[in-house]
Amino acid sequence: MSANDDLKALIRTIPNFPRPGIQFRDITTLLLDPSGMARTVERMASATQGPIDLIAGIEARGFLFAAALAVPLNAGVLLIRKDGKLPGATIAEDYALEYGQDRIAIHEDALVPGARVMLVDDLIATGGTARAAIRLIRKAGGVVNQAQFLVDLPDLGGADKLRSDGVTVDALVA
Ligand code: PRP
Ligand code: HPA
Repeated sequence: MSANDDLKALIRTIPNFPRPGIQFRDITTLLLDPSGMARTVERMASATQGPIDLIAGIEARGFLFAAALAVPLNAGVLLIRKDGKLPGATIAEDYALEYGQDRIAIHEDALVPGARVMLVDDLIATGGTARAAIRLIRKAGGVVNQAQFLVDLPDLGGADKLRSDGVTVDALVA
């Protein structure tokens, strides 16, 4: 029995999604549990090395955790969106996914220079998405030293890549 086995038990695995051979870790079952999200957010809040000005959440599932965490941490929310969704002038970064290619963006004026940002997402796999988010935040003048995830897939090496970018990585479940 380890610390977050209660949360792990709320996450299911769907084989062969979105492509044959991929074991998809599905957090929708944790979200459906009345206290699953609350326990997740409490533990992420406890692991936060503050002070933090902004919680950056990655579309779409990262938004849920960023918004929930921003309330107890008294931080703002920075939306890291899939390209083409933001109305103002943006800066963007391309990245490779475990199963494809994508581009994320933020408003170019979203960050005050030196803003302390913590990155949050539901899951880190290859780290391509999170690393692109970190590049974007740094390009916009933010300082990002910490990232938190509900799930890490350690065999895919993403968390270690983030650490080599100078970011502290915490994940509740591996
Ligand atoms: C998933 C997940 C992470 C990313 C992890 O998002 O929520 O953001 O992939 O993969 P990586 O570490 O290999 O980059 P997805 O792009 O499927 O978007 P969604 O939240 O809108 O479903
Ligand atoms: N589950 C959810 N999102 C993901 C996964 C996964 O296994 N791999 C990459 N993004």
